[in-house]
Amino acid sequence: MNYYFITGSSKGLGKAIAELLLQAENNFVFGYARSSSITHKRYYHKHIDFANIEAVQKIKFPALKDAKKVVLMNNAGVVGEIKHAGNLTNQKVIDCYTINLIVPTILANEFIKTYQNTTIEKSIINISSGAAQSAIDGWSVYCATKAGLDMFSRVLQEESNINKTNIKVLSIAPGIIDTEMQQHIRSADSSNFSNINRFVEYKKNGDLASAIDTAQKILRFINEPQLSQNVVCSVRDLKK
Ligand SMILES: NC(=O)c1ccc[n+]([C@@H]2O[C@H](COP(=O)([O-])OP(=O)(O)OC[C@H]3O[C@@H](n4cnc5c(N)ncnc54)[C@H](OP(=O)(O)O)[C@@H]3O)[C@@H](O)[C@H]2O)c1
Repeated sequence: MNYYFITGSSKGLGKAIAELLLQAENNFVFGYARSSSITHKRYYHKHIDFANIEAVQKIKFPALKDAKKVVLMNNAGVVGEIKHAGNLTNQKVIDCYTINLIVPTILANEFIKTYQNTTIEKSIINISSGAAQSAIDGWSVYCATKAGLDMFSRVLQEESNINKTNIKVLSIAPGIIDTEMQQHIRSADSSNFSNINRFVEYKKNGDLASAIDTAQKILRFINEPQLSQNVVCSVRDLKK
């Protein structure tokens, strides 16, 4: 069996990825989010709020006797409060760093600890953003968390190479997707976010990809490892 651990599997991109994976008999998905929306015999849901770091530290990965492949997909993420620094709420800053960067770090650490000495095929897929490379006003915390996730991923791959643990690590920018996250972005106040019209236009012009199309592209990165030689990559790197 192939086992996938997917955070943020209740909606948007994470749900689309989980549902695609569940179409294959040899895949089992463990999902993590505050809410759940998938019912399937090969799906197990853990209700958890990732802002609750004590609860996150209790997450353990199971010993899996029949596993051929294990994949950790750190997908859950929030844009957080869209405001310029100086007007941010401290607790919202803490929550955004926690959900987007600290949780993926803790889960990756636990995943590596559990599986590093096994011969199972192992991948860690972190869902990043173009915002990791681009300074967008109102998104200082989001941009910083995704830039941090990219660098964390690069170091993980370096360490796996040194330790010969054979873990494939990718930090993938998924492009712009028609999910609740984009609704939240469009609902921002223009005084806190000078780019708002660009995001309103994306929706109006039909420029947002569907979650299912994006999920298919993300799965190609897992199933065709030759597609990306770089840890930090984007669905936009796919030629076809
Ligand atoms: N949409 C885009 O255009 C876009 C662009 C670039 C990058 N991304 C990245 O793609 C990933 C998926 O985004 P999306 O667009 O699919 O977002 P989404 O539709 O808002 O879904 C976010 C997922 O994260 C989970 N989540 C959020 N806060 C959580 C918390 N406190 N505890 C546990 N789970 C939590 C949500 O579950 P619950 O609410 O049930 O807890 C949900 O399943 C994110 O990492 C995002 O940064 C998205």
